[in-house]
Amino acid sequence: MKKIIYSKFGGAEVLQIAEVPIPAVQATTILIKVKAVSINPLDWKIRNGEMKIMSGSKFPKGIGIDFSGIVEETGTAATKYNKGDEVFGILDVFKGEALSEYLTVEEKDIAIRPRNISFEQAAAMPVVGSAALQIFKTLVSLKKGAEILINGASGGIGMFATQIAKMSGAIVTTVVGDSGIPAGKDWGADFVVNYRNEDVLKGNKQYDVVIDLSGKMPFTKAKQIMKHSSAYIHTAPGPKEIITSFFINLFSSKKYKLLMLKPSPEYLAELTGYAEDGIAIVVSKVYPFNSFKKAYTEVPDGKFIGKAVITMDGVV
Ligand SMILES: NC(=O)c1ccc[n+]([C@@H]2O[C@H](COP(=O)([O-])OP(=O)(O)OC[C@H]3O[C@@H](n4cnc5c(N)ncnc54)[C@H](OP(=O)(O)O)[C@@H]3O)[C@@H](O)[C@H]2O)c1
Repeated sequence: MKKIIYSKFGGAEVLQIAEVPIPAVQATTILIKVKAVSINPLDWKIRNGEMKIMSGSKFPKGIGIDFSGIVEETGTAATKYNKGDEVFGILDVFKGEALSEYLTVEEKDIAIRPRNISFEQAAAMPVVGSAALQIFKTLVSLKKGAEILINGASGGIGMFATQIAKMSGAIVTTVVGDSGIPAGKDWGADFVVNYRNEDVLKGNKQYDVVIDLSGKMPFTKAKQIMKHSSAYIHTAPGPKEIITSFFINLFSSKKYKLLMLKPSPEYLAELTGYAEDGIAIVVSKVYPFNSFKKAYTEVPDGKFIGKAVITMDGVV
């Protein structure tokens, strides 16, 4: 089967197609024929070597964390799914190798694809949807009427975080670029700020929660627009942020919280419910498998609304 791998850290140019054996099914695992794989900033951060501490430096590595596909074979002790089931799922964040014709997973890593969404939408959901859920379940608890600012809201996590925050009754302000304004409104934000012509840090409004998804609004800046008891969410933490947040949280009522995604079957189940209820899952760009280098070159340059995915169409 074909699989995308890389044997050294670097840009999209290190990615290559390899011919490898179809992974063997073990007693507790399930073989999936992959239909679509989503593209996440974590993919290129790991591939660039920015996250070596967590990913390790052993090669070759695969790429791709979340996916959708069809169950091809089940292990003797994996009884929850049957051949032919259409599923979506998520791999270990730092060992993702979903961009391949087949992969094996444990039962806990997948859920049945909601019938009302496509394979592309299903693949787009797990990482960013789970990240949004983890923020609201483990880092902050949104109360009705809470003021929340989501900076960088036109991408994947922003799409889910905006809609879930609105369902919790929060008052949501999203910060997006020019192309993100219609999506910000469609996803239900109460206020949409274009970062190209307005600096939200210079406004008078104070927030209960600030989530930075862009990597451009550090806590040191965000704290000027945070209420006395409030929380800031950093979504790309490294060792420096872990130490800094520890000391800030000792002394400040403005808490500095870090997202470290831990996939869970509960998040997949909850995302299934949201999808069935019609949450918007925008996939604005779909690349065929053989365009993987183009995909990983274009997507980091941004300006995509929601998510971009790679399908297994065109594997030759
Ligand atoms: N810690 C974890 O466990 C974990 C898990 C998942 C994701 N993450 C991280 O979370 C972050 C967000 O993920 P994502 O999937 O939502 O990424 P994404 O889809 O790339 O979205 C990021 C958004 O930031 C916007 N942006 C860029 N510059 C901006 C600025 N100056 N002001 C405001 N917005 C700006 C971009 O909009 P434009 O393109 O229009 O500029 C884009 O929509 C990434 O850093 C990712 O690595 C962390």
